[in-house]
Amino acid sequence: MTTLTFVSGPNICPECGDVIETRIAEHRGIIFVYRCRCEYNERIKLYEEIEEEERRRKIQNIFEGAKIPRRYASLDIKDFDTSRPGAEDALKKVLQYIENIEENVKEGKGMVLWGGTGTGKTLLAVATLKAAMNRGYTGLFQNAPELMYHFNSTYSTAETERDIIDALRNVDVLVLDDLDKGKWTEKVSERIYVIINARYGGVKPTLITTNLDPRSLLELVGEPIFDRIRECSIFVGLSGESFRKKKATGGK
Ligand SMILES: Nc1ncnc2c1ncn2[C@@H]1O[C@H](COP(=O)(O)OP(=O)(O)OP(=O)(O)O)[C@@H](O)[C@H]1O
Ligand SMILES: [Mg+2]
Ligand SMILES: [Zn+2]
Repeated sequence: MTTLTFVSGPNICPECGDVIETRIAEHRGIIFVYRCRCEYNERIKLYEEIEEEERRRKIQNIFEGAKIPRRYASLDIKDFDTSRPGAEDALKKVLQYIENIEENVKEGKGMVLWGGTGTGKTLLAVATLKAAMNRGYTGLFQNAPELMYHFNSTYSTAETERDIIDALRNVDVLVLDDLDKGKWTEKVSERIYVIINARYGGVKPTLITTNLDPRSLLELVGEPIFDRIRECSIFVGLSGESFRKKKATGGK
């Protein structure tokens, strides 16, 4: 006589074929329990969705804090017209900089966009800033004459100045727009030096736009500031007639 004994075998997941049993895993510091490959994959997918959402929220906060003027916020580097002489070279340099944005930010490599009015310097600086912020770096757009106006104003207190200077020193990527405009006083010079020197020392890039050619910029800001800028920046020259004028006259 044969006796058949049924030993209850292990529970197998019909989906993945794993033996169903309690297991423990870790994902970026979170310990979780799963019972088969399917559960494991579901969990990881959920964690990744949460992380992606956090990343998006962080970038949104970065963009909101960057104070990019509305006119430029919606402009894209794709809008940059390269039909005039030299524009293509300038665009190529900026695109190359953007392509290596992470390396450039880590190395504190900045950019000086110089040239005539309305040639797209601010457009290119903002496009570069946005590219960095899309990678999660913090960014700030600062109009230089406004900053100078504040420094020169008798209402400016040491406290508010310190807050402003700290923000400009610490942000990952800073745009200093229109560095040549505004009233260049001794007070301004001192404070701009503090900012540029801190960013230089902290290996943080600054994107500068100016109407001055490099030599005239040196004459305006002086050797100590210019020397630091020169060492860690690529220079991009832009020329031609103002696009603002072109827009206003319909290209005639
Ligand atoms: N190459 C370009 N292609 C298309 N539009 C351009 C180009 N350059 C500038 N513009 C447009 O012209 C206007 C002025 O550009 P932007 O403010 O960037 O010039 P800018 O060089 O910073 O001038 P400024 O020296 O006066 O600050 C913007 O509306 C911008 O979109
Ligand atoms: Mg500008
Ligand atoms: Zn399974």
